[in-house]
Parts: sequence; C-alpha cells; structure tokens
Amino acid sequence: MKKLVFATNNKHKTQEIRQALEGQYEVLNLQDIGCTDDIPETADTFEGNASLKSQYVVAHFNLDCFADDSGLEVDALNNEPGVYSARYSGSRDSLENINLVLEKLKNQSNRKARFKTVISLVQDGVNHFFEGTVEGTIRTELSGSAGFGYDPVFQPEGYAITFAEMSMAEKNQISHRAIALKKMIDFLNTNSR
Ligand code: IMP
Repeated sequence: MKKLVFATNNKHKTQEIRQALEGQYEVLNLQDIGCTDDIPETADTFEGNASLKSQYVVAHFNLDCFADDSGLEVDALNNEPGVYSARYSGSRDSLENINLVLEKLKNQSNRKARFKTVISLVQDGVNHFFEGTVEGTIRTELSGSAGFGYDPVFQPEGYAITFAEMSMAEKNQISHRAIALKKMIDFLNTNSR
C-alpha cells in the first residue's frame, strides 16, 4: 500500500485521516517516521507554512506528505491574527490571545471573521493545495467551554452559538479543517492508484 505522511504529532488528527483513507493509504505521522525535528513554520501565509512542513518531510524522508496550517482572520484587524493565531499575545495561552483580539475590537462594529485551514499535499513531487473556511463573527464576550483556541468567541454564520458551545461532532461537520480535509480526501479517493 502507498505510504502517506501527515506532518503532525497529533494522534487524534492522525486517527481521523487513517480511518478516512483506510485500504488506500498507509497514513504515518511524524512519530511513526521517527521525525523529532523542529520543522520551521516561518512563512507569513497559511499556504507557505503548510508547504514548509510537507516539503520538509519530502526532502528529509523521501515520502509523500501533507501538512495543514490554520488560523483566525478578523476583517477589522486586517486579517490578524492569521498565521500568528497560536501566539498572538506573545504567549500560547488561549485566554490571553482571545483577550487581545477582544481588546483590539473594542468599540468596533465590524466583527466579521473567519477560520481558515490550508492543506499542502506533496504527492509525486507535485504540491496540491486544499482550503477550508468558515465565516462568522467575533462575540464581545466568551461563551462555552468545548473546543480550543478562539472557539469561545467565534460564532459561525447561521448559528446563534459559539464553536465552544457545540459538540465536537457538530463542529466537525462545519469546521474549516473538516472542509479542507474533505477536499483532500475526495482528491485522494479519486486519484489513488
Ligand atoms: P493549527 O495550525 O491548526 O495548529 O492552528 C493554529 C492556531 O489557530 C491555533 O493554535 C488556534 O489558536 C487557532 N485555531 C485554528 N483552528 C482553530 C479552531 O478550530 N478553533 C479555535 N482556534 C483555532
């Protein structure tokens, strides 16, 4: 069976993909291939960072690979925090990051925002991109305790609750990551030899 590396250490994400591609690809994560390197994520776009990760694995391990990069884009903040979402406040603390966004949006009536994921899949030397976005608004206060990151202040379009008030299953139906992943899985299912 063809091998495909997912450039992540997240076991949950790996398991999800493994199931979706069962019988077609042997999905390996960074731990499975013995990669403990600190892969650089120094680009200023999601595409750039996802490509840095996937191409690093291809270059060092000579295996087909895909990687994802995600973040929150807020219209009134010129699409910040964007690729800096994980450490916007200078720390990895989600509450501090959320509070900085809320502070910057104080008295701002345009609260439009989106979560975005870009996947870079390098297969047979060709880099394919798959994108997923979910539009929404930033609440003025936190609500809910599920999920992670900016979930407590992100209300997806068409809903009256935040991502942090949704079950994981419900969020996984509509999330940016789920949309991008589905596009890649459809591509692999159609193109697998
Ligand atoms: P990653 O590229 O998936 O690791 O995401 C980078 C950062 O974007 C995370 O650390 C979060 O701050 C933010 N982020 C990405 N996806 C989500 C999400 O689904 N909910 C909340 N925050 C997210």
